[in-house]
Amino acid sequence: MTNPLNRAAFVAAAHTPKQLPADGGREVAFAGRSNAGKSSALNALCNQNALARTSKTPGRTQQLVFFEVEPMKYLVDLPGYGYAKVPIDLRAHWEAFIETYFRQREALAGLVVVMDIRHPLREFDQQMLAFAAARGVPAHCLLTKADKLGRGQQAQTLAAVKRDLPEGATIQVFSAESKIGVEEARRVVCGWLEV
Ligand code: GTP
Ligand code: MG
Repeated sequence: MTNPLNRAAFVAAAHTPKQLPADGGREVAFAGRSNAGKSSALNALCNQNALARTSKTPGRTQQLVFFEVEPMKYLVDLPGYGYAKVPIDLRAHWEAFIETYFRQREALAGLVVVMDIRHPLREFDQQMLAFAAARGVPAHCLLTKADKLGRGQQAQTLAAVKRDLPEGATIQVFSAESKIGVEEARRVVCGWLEV
């Protein structure tokens, strides 16, 4: 079966709430610390190398970037949180914008929290999960860059983080580099988008 996410294409980058595409469809947002691997995870899920822009330098994604899978069905790449070198007023602007987006966006059908498997479940990750739970939006965590660890350590981290997750949130091991867990994550995202 072909992957519905292969069709994803850039439609909009929003720097302010006014620039958001019309609300009311279904969308899945990718959140996580700066440099965690959000844009790379999105590309792996969509089977495209250069859909979302990735970078070695943290702070690459600076807007809410929308990729359309079908009319009114979007994947949303969010700027990373927790990057100290972003100017303070710009950071305050993003944080307020992202918070408004999470509080108000009707279309939000699911949240993917992308975490580096070597630094999982930091404070901001927990906040995002709490936000989702408060709104009744399902959340799925990717422990990405799993290629950096051996199988044993992957399994150990997965079990440890699972114990600390809020109720209802799900989690898996992932790697955009070696494509670990891509199918599993795709099933979750496609389920939420209903594609
Ligand atoms: P911001 O947009 O800056 O918040 O970052 P991001 O979370 O979108 O991260 P991005 O996808 O740009 O990746 C950051 C760096 O991590 C890049 O150098 C990627 O090549 C690398 N990276 C991402 N995923 C993986 C992975 O699964 N394995 C390995 N080894 N490196 C990865
Ligand atoms: Mg990014």
